[in-house]
Order: sequence, then structure tokens, then C-alpha cells
Amino acid sequence: MSARICILPTAAETFDMSTPSSLGFGLGLRPIYYPDLLEARPNVDWLEIITENYLVPGGRPLAMLERVRAEYPIVMHGVSMSIASTDPLDFDYLKSLKQLADRFEPDWISDHLCWTGIHGVNLHDLLPVPYTSEALKHVVERIRRVQDYLGRRIAIENASTYVTFRESEMDEWTFIQEMAERADCWLLVDVNNIFVSAFNHGFDARQYVDAIPLDRVVQLHLAGHSDLGTHKIDTHDQPVCEEVWRLYERVCRRFGEISTMIERDDNFPPFGELVAELNRARAICAAAVHSQKETAA
Ligand SMILES: [Fe+2]
Repeated sequence: MSARICILPTAAETFDMSTPSSLGFGLGLRPIYYPDLLEARPNVDWLEIITENYLVPGGRPLAMLERVRAEYPIVMHGVSMSIASTDPLDFDYLKSLKQLADRFEPDWISDHLCWTGIHGVNLHDLLPVPYTSEALKHVVERIRRVQDYLGRRIAIENASTYVTFRESEMDEWTFIQEMAERADCWLLVDVNNIFVSAFNHGFDARQYVDAIPLDRVVQLHLAGHSDLGTHKIDTHDQPVCEEVWRLYERVCRRFGEISTMIERDDNFPPFGELVAELNRARAICAAAVHSQKETAA
């Protein structure tokens, strides 16, 4: 079912910031690859850091990040904002995040459409949201409060999900579309997460891609997953699969070149294999953008 829900008036106060242009093709910064990134100077345009890994008072993580930041543009990607929780927003966390951003000047900051705990308990997982008008209003208000505090737009990523709620009143893509408009936030679109959730819940991933608002997307994630037959799990421990590459090609035809990165968090391959995957993303995107221009001409 798809419905267009109007919950909040569009706020008069919006951030006077145009959508960032593409940073090119990047990777997630993982300590195992520090030497490759700092000494080999590979064909990698930018890096995404996991925010929480650097919310520390000092030591090696921040020292390495200083060195990395001197060589690459970065963006900050968090897992602890818990934007959909009914717990109060954690302003101690947001203060640390803001301080890190002030120091390292990322091009943008992102987190997930999820909740990670309740009653002060952190479950260390990205938990799904019911797609209801009530949840939409709640998430929009919290994104706006976070953005007001940080003084900048944030990007919200679609998480992979494994259950749905009987109470949901709209599709995930309708929820995300409304969320982005009402909260005046950006979107980080994880192409693999769309594919995984589409398989798990039986919807058409292409319909999801075609419904994403064009002017809100600042970044794309590509990743691998585990196929358990009855369902798929977003494990980030495999190469990007062929179906996700095809979906990525569709995204590029629709959006043009958007900052794209590959997430790898386990079963780490030699660095050259990740660079080869990134080069495949470059090639697919370039061909898709070219063919789109030919069609339009
Ligand atoms: Fe992702």
C-alpha cells in the first residue's frame, strides 16, 4: 500500500545549504587498511568514518584520523543516534559528535532510520520502525531537533530490515520520502539494504529506487550480504552481488553520479580487491550516466 501522508507543516526555517556535489568514489575507513590508504595512495576519492570509533579523548584512533584527514575528504557515519527511539535524544552523544565534526570538518554527517534501544538500554542493533503517521511525526521532530543542535542537515540511511509491523500504514519508501521533506534532511541510500529488505519482505526494489526523491540524496552505500535461503542478512562481509550492481546501475541512471562508497566490515579482502570493486562502481556509474544523456538527447 502506498499513501501520501502530511503530518507537519513545512517549517519556515530551513538550512541554507545546497545539496553537496559528488565526492566521487570512496571506501569505509577501517584500521586494517590504514597502511594501504596512507602509504600506497590508491585511487580512492574519499573516506567514511564510523563516528563512534573516534569519540575518544585521544590516542591512536584520533592520531590516525588526523593523518587520514590530511589526505582525504571524509564523511561521518554514526550508529548511535537512535533517531526513532522514544528515549530522549542523547545530547551528551550529540555534543561529542559535534566536537568531532568541528575538528575534522566532514562533508556531512549521517546515521540510520532506526532505534537502538529503549529505557537507557543500548541493544547495539539497528532496529526497524513501524511506518505509521505517528512514527513519522516522531522521527521528523527528532531529526529537526538534531539538525538545529548541530546547525547543519544530516543524512538518514535506510536500514536493512528483517521484520515488518502489522501497524504500518505506508511503504518504507513513502515514509522515507515524507521524512526527508518534512525534516528537511538528506538521504543516504544503501542500495544493498534496499535489495536485502526487498527480498526479505517481497517488495520490488526497483519501485523503491524509483520513488526516492531526487533532490535529497547525498550518498550511496554498496555492500555485500549473506544469503540464508529464506532470508538475506546485511553482513558487509562479501563482495557486492550482481543483483545489487544492477540496482546500482538503475540508481545512477536516475540520479546521475552521487558520492558512492563500499562498506566492508568483516572477512576483509586484500585492499586491491576493494579498489577493484570501487573501479567497477565508477565504470557502471559512468556508463549509466552516459546512456541516460544519450537517451535524453
Ligand atoms: Fe549502509
